[in-house]
Amino acid sequence: MRYGHFDDENREYVITNPETPVKWINYVGSLQFGGIVDHTGGSLICKGDPALNRITKYIPQLADGDFQGETLYLRFKEKGGYRVFSPYYVPTLDPYDLYECHIGLGYSRIVSQLYGVRTEATIFVPLGQSCVIRDLRIANVSAESLEIDAIPVVEYTHPDALRQFNNADWVPQTMQSKAYRDRSGRAILAQYPFMRRDTQINTFTSNLPVSSFETDRRRFLGASAYGTWDNPLSLHDEELSDYEARRGDNIAALLHHLGIIEPGESARLITQLGQGESVEASLPFIRRFRDPDEVERSFEELATFWDAYLSRLQVETPDANVNRLLNIHNPRQCHTTMNWSRYLSLYQVGLGARGIGFRDSSQDVMGVLASMPEEGRQLIEKLLHVQKQDGSAKHQFNPLTMVANEGDSREAVDAPKYYSDDHLWIVLAITAYLKETGDLAFLDQVVPFYEKDGDGYPLESGTVPEHMRRAIRFTQHNVGAHGLPLLGFADWNDTVNLRVGAESLFTANLYGEALLEMIELACFLGDGEATAQYTAQYEGMRQRVNENAWDGEWYVRYLDADGSRIGSQLNAHGQIYANGQSWPVISGFVSPDRARRALDAVYRRLNTCYGIKLSTPGYDGYDQAKGGITTYPPGAKENGGIFLHANTWAIIAETIVGNGDRAFEYYQQINPVTKNDVIEQSECEPYVYPGNILGDEHPQFGLARNSWLTGTASWAYQAATQYILGVRPTYDGLLLDPCIPREWDGFKVTREFRKTVYQIEVKNPDHVCKGVRSVVVDGTEIEGAIVPVLGDDRAHKVEVLL
Ligand code: NOJ
Repeated sequence: MRYGHFDDENREYVITNPETPVKWINYVGSLQFGGIVDHTGGSLICKGDPALNRITKYIPQLADGDFQGETLYLRFKEKGGYRVFSPYYVPTLDPYDLYECHIGLGYSRIVSQLYGVRTEATIFVPLGQSCVIRDLRIANVSAESLEIDAIPVVEYTHPDALRQFNNADWVPQTMQSKAYRDRSGRAILAQYPFMRRDTQINTFTSNLPVSSFETDRRRFLGASAYGTWDNPLSLHDEELSDYEARRGDNIAALLHHLGIIEPGESARLITQLGQGESVEASLPFIRRFRDPDEVERSFEELATFWDAYLSRLQVETPDANVNRLLNIHNPRQCHTTMNWSRYLSLYQVGLGARGIGFRDSSQDVMGVLASMPEEGRQLIEKLLHVQKQDGSAKHQFNPLTMVANEGDSREAVDAPKYYSDDHLWIVLAITAYLKETGDLAFLDQVVPFYEKDGDGYPLESGTVPEHMRRAIRFTQHNVGAHGLPLLGFADWNDTVNLRVGAESLFTANLYGEALLEMIELACFLGDGEATAQYTAQYEGMRQRVNENAWDGEWYVRYLDADGSRIGSQLNAHGQIYANGQSWPVISGFVSPDRARRALDAVYRRLNTCYGIKLSTPGYDGYDQAKGGITTYPPGAKENGGIFLHANTWAIIAETIVGNGDRAFEYYQQINPVTKNDVIEQSECEPYVYPGNILGDEHPQFGLARNSWLTGTASWAYQAATQYILGVRPTYDGLLLDPCIPREWDGFKVTREFRKTVYQIEVKNPDHVCKGVRSVVVDGTEIEGAIVPVLGDDRAHKVEVLL
């Protein structure tokens, strides 16, 4: 069963059946202005922050056929009245002759044909602008003349998105709309809650004259609001009521008489939904995007942006599904996660419970460094602003206000108010940035810590290395009875919340990996003292992990406050955890023998045809002493589900030990592109990674959820490009260290690195997984496997022999 196909040439996925198992979405614009567009035209748009400045009302929990945020109605007269329908399928659900939704890079294009009318709607946010454009071409493909009216409609929410749902007294009394019409008949519908009347105005307008408008939902739907979105009663009248709402549920509907469209002819209507400080302040973009040429120009600019973004790293492997994913969809998803963190999707609903996640964004940023290092640096800097003076980090923050909080740990009264891993991820992000760019000046940058004085000024600032040192120091000083890092409220696994005093093996290994990065940087900078100091810390932790956490065939995952083991064969549930095994390999704490045994245990105990389960067997009943994990039934999410983010670390670990066949097997198991023909199983979009898939203890084994905003995107990209294909930035140059399936004859990578383009061709005549025999750069063999920084803007040929 499939609902569409990949169109690689146009870098699109084309949905051809609107009744997808769940809504499939795309992102337009950025967090500065933009949001989600679903495949039936519904949209959730916000500016700067989905919780505090949301524009359209989109309720993911509603049935899929319901109106969501925005739609377009078309109508023409026929015997007995108007034929009213939406070319987006939702909300009128009319039978169609053609339906396509092209999921493009930063745009969606819905093409449909019904009742002799072909509509093409291209939806996008011009780069850097605060408006979403719908460029509509409406053609008569019937044999008769048709007199067509077009009525685009937006439904607003209060900008404080949560208030919209939890205060039905205050919100409706504040929402207001006002119409501005010019001599040509064009109209701007302005909308605002009263308190923002002088500061923040939503505008909805178009390029064509309107004959009437509506701003009140009740009037639009008719029959005292007992009319419905699938058949708004007002659309059976000649005109809308021209009513300027003074309260209530505000909408913006513009009625355009497109006139008689002859067979084979078409009309072009361009709508814009935007926001500015006032209507006057918005006029420049309103005027600009009423011009079709400007719309086209800005659409081309968008394509140019994506050309540049994707061109930095392109691959040619023997596997078409890998190429498709790595050349288009995975880097695109990395861009999305870097932009939206865990803020706004159909699963992360952006009502303020989550903002920018410190650990999430520290990892997301690593997925875009090759393509947009400057934006990566800016995000790293922003993250450092919410690191505390003691070195730990606030769990999440709102980028509009920069107010941070402790995440879910706030709810647990007796629990520590920090996550033991958060602050360590930023060390990895910073060193990845330095290796990618060589921008050592970043180390001199001074960034404030989070704490402020009474006037809101930072109490202390520190250089980037000072932030890194404090991150390391926090973990060094916050250890438990076995000298392993205290768990805090949780580590990467948010849902295992143990008693105060519990220790985390995940954080121990992440600390090890962060120390390796500190050592490598100190060596590169020639700082012998720091190198020695971090090496001693590393060795100490390595010893404690191996003394306390080996369980016979694998590593345990936690030591509880009383010293009991979690993730051990002694346990009835949660006997083995995937991260418990992959991370000692990544940190380098493990011996080769233990590495093999631990990774084989993952394969034996945790692997399924849909991916590696996070742990097994699932806990079967709520247990406050274990925490959130036991709120899920066995097989769901962290409780024995397939958590894709963690799969990527198992892939990396397998490449580290040289098992390219297994690494690739794991990689392909979760490659979303490979699910296109069996999508009834996973249900989510085949063009992005979901966050999780139900595990084999669950009756719906294989069902995916939480697509788009997942750390899987960044790590799967890193796993594939840096560990399987093995093209990895270092301080000294580009390391070539592939670990591929032995059956591959080779592959090619074009990689821009520090301004130079490296055209890399890897040959594998002996069919090995790993082991570089020679590297030849522009015809000359080099020593070792690191191609030096050539620093020119020419292309260089690199031939690698395995
Ligand atoms: C989702 C969170 O966004 C991520 O930070 C966390 O690591 C995983 N859940 C696992 O619990």
